[in-house]
Amino acid sequence: MKIYILITFCLFVFSHSNYAQTKLDVVVENKIDSLMELMTLEEKVGQMNQYNGFWNVTGPVPEKGDASSKFEHLKNGWVGSMLNVTGVEEVRKVQKIVVEESRLGIPLIIGYDVIHGYRTQSPIPLAESASWDMDVIKASAAMAADEASATGINWTFAPMVDISRDARWGRVMEGAGEDPYLGSQIAKARITGFQGEDLSAPNTIAATAKHFAGYGFSEAGRDYNTVDVGTSTLYNTIFPPFMAAIEADVKTFMNSFNVLNGIPATGNSFLQRDVLKEEWDYQGFVVSDWGSMAEMVAHGYSKDAKSAAESAANAGSDMDMESYLYVKHLKNLVDEGKVSVDKIDDAVRRILRVKYELGLFDDPYKYCNEEREKAVIGSDKNKAIALDMAEKSIVLLKNENQLLPLKKKGMNIAVIGPLAADKNSPLGGWRLAAEDNSAVSVMEGLKKYKGNKLYHEKGVELVKGKEAFVFEIDINTTDRTGIAEAVEVAKNKDVVVMVLGEHGFQSGEGRSRANLDLPGLQQELLEAVYAVNKNIVLVLMNGRPLTINWADENIPAIVEAWQLGSTSGDAIAKVLYGDYNPSGKLPMTFPRNVGQVPLYYNYLSTGRPTYPGDDLVFWTHYTDEVNTPLYEFGYGLSYTEFTYDNLKLNTNSLSKTGELKVSFDLSNTGKYEGKEVVQLYIQDLFASIARPVKELKDFKMVSLKPGETKNVSFTITTKTLEFYSANNIWESETGDFKVFIGGSSTTQLASDFTLND
Ligand code: BGC
Repeated sequence: MKIYILITFCLFVFSHSNYAQTKLDVVVENKIDSLMELMTLEEKVGQMNQYNGFWNVTGPVPEKGDASSKFEHLKNGWVGSMLNVTGVEEVRKVQKIVVEESRLGIPLIIGYDVIHGYRTQSPIPLAESASWDMDVIKASAAMAADEASATGINWTFAPMVDISRDARWGRVMEGAGEDPYLGSQIAKARITGFQGEDLSAPNTIAATAKHFAGYGFSEAGRDYNTVDVGTSTLYNTIFPPFMAAIEADVKTFMNSFNVLNGIPATGNSFLQRDVLKEEWDYQGFVVSDWGSMAEMVAHGYSKDAKSAAESAANAGSDMDMESYLYVKHLKNLVDEGKVSVDKIDDAVRRILRVKYELGLFDDPYKYCNEEREKAVIGSDKNKAIALDMAEKSIVLLKNENQLLPLKKKGMNIAVIGPLAADKNSPLGGWRLAAEDNSAVSVMEGLKKYKGNKLYHEKGVELVKGKEAFVFEIDINTTDRTGIAEAVEVAKNKDVVVMVLGEHGFQSGEGRSRANLDLPGLQQELLEAVYAVNKNIVLVLMNGRPLTINWADENIPAIVEAWQLGSTSGDAIAKVLYGDYNPSGKLPMTFPRNVGQVPLYYNYLSTGRPTYPGDDLVFWTHYTDEVNTPLYEFGYGLSYTEFTYDNLKLNTNSLSKTGELKVSFDLSNTGKYEGKEVVQLYIQDLFASIARPVKELKDFKMVSLKPGETKNVSFTITTKTLEFYSANNIWESETGDFKVFIGGSSTTQLASDFTLND
């Protein structure tokens, strides 16, 4: 009988734990105690070691070509987890080695970047966030979990909950944008989608809140760069989505590549021990980011690889992703007394806990079912979920003279641009398991509407050369030969649909940009077409906010279609033809000029906020650009019109135990049925630290028929007004507040109230 079966039998016999946290399942804790009694130090360290599979590299590899030693380590029980092993056949192989050949047969946890779908791609996370629709976001994550788990994966490195205010940073595509409140709701929706009600079910997977912490604040938006944030930003802006993730019972955290106060996150015990594991009493485990342990040497924080392992273990990094440092050094570090056995035990206990919760000890092959794999991957049901998500992610930025929706019959439409027939870019930058060129293109989506005639020209190429995942995208800036043909085709057409934007690999990890304009020759193409036909609908595909001032001034209709995944073209066609009335709102500010970045709506009140008059220059402004964004956070139009009216507060004096009801009328004054995301913001006028000029505190999605009015209400309590104060605690402070209501952060209605003791 294999020892691991023996363990299951003996678990209760050995159980002696007094591990008493109420949140924990005593039975599981007892099982862990029993198992840990049987483990050697090497086997414990093995649980803390994660290896990449044998292909599919998502970061630099420290030692290439050592697959045979990985197999050896699996047999010895020196590997607790693998990432990037995909497909039932492959997962079964590696699982079989540890289960049948290692001494204790402790199953592996299999991780993968299931970021916005597995084979079926949902929109990139930034796009999904534009839906502000938590049910659909949750359904999209559940769909991803369903597919991933059917291929043997039981752990995703998602959601990325890093708040970012810098559109230059390529990874804004992977997050929920700039706002901590919206980001927190989305973190919860994604986690509950991935993990479901029952983590041990075969179609749910463990989630990861990443990257802890501050990664979204890399200076100048350059990936892996220094981060320098103060306490208030850390607590009031960066931490809330991580706290929300814990509320949603996220099973793991990933640390980050950056420093915080000069200390790399991986070796940072303030972050991982003091805040996460003590202040927040987190019971899951922390995986390092790819190679981040070894990178502490490059940071100049650790003098060598061994001391990097020491710092990481002591600081609370429980699992080493691809640095190979724990497996090499941790046992010696314990023997030398540099890392305590207690710390090792704590890390191992956390890792085993998640394995138990996933049900891997009951059946290590529970995610390895070939029939399920075939039935689930890329199914029509999953495509329908991705399509629903895609429609809801689209944001209508401009629609002059109601150019949209398009008539379904009798029109000649030119469809122009390098992304119009592209089936690859819409899949986005994190589509590891998707088939290349598998997205529905805009052309294909539009063709399904048979009543109009389509004429297609690319105009310009977006990239030169190969499109490989790991390489820089080479933007073609010289070949103008296609522009004249595109112009010719655009002439005399009723409408021109131009599909422009970024290549799918131009955003994402390691894809920062110093320029936010339309890449390559696309602006030139746009202007050339405009010169012969002004009836343009610009469909944008991009992984980040872009600076599109010229388009905003000149082009009558602009649709933000991000990178919408497998069903992209169908969703875009439905919106262009009015079969879905757009309801998305921007989760991130669109600047006018890259020089304004970081630009975000919830900036702190400053000492010189307004123009003092008399041509005086001494106020916060630029001499060559306005302060305001092109499109503000929360902004997005519909084919119908909404008006806000009749704001009422049931009291202007809120007590610390009381409730304040804010109500108003929302009317649909346009011609179409539509949905509006109504948003509630507050401003704390005076506090122990400077507070944002506006902060999102609640939102609701309201559906209205033409001519219909609904009374909408929100409730504010003292909890709504809490922040991390100068006392270094979460509290609300008495005093005066403003409340704002509207369809974007610019807001339409305002009133005041006071918080009293
Ligand atoms: C990224 C992580 C990702 C990991 C594994 C790293 O480079 O920063 O977000 O989960 O690779 O692919």
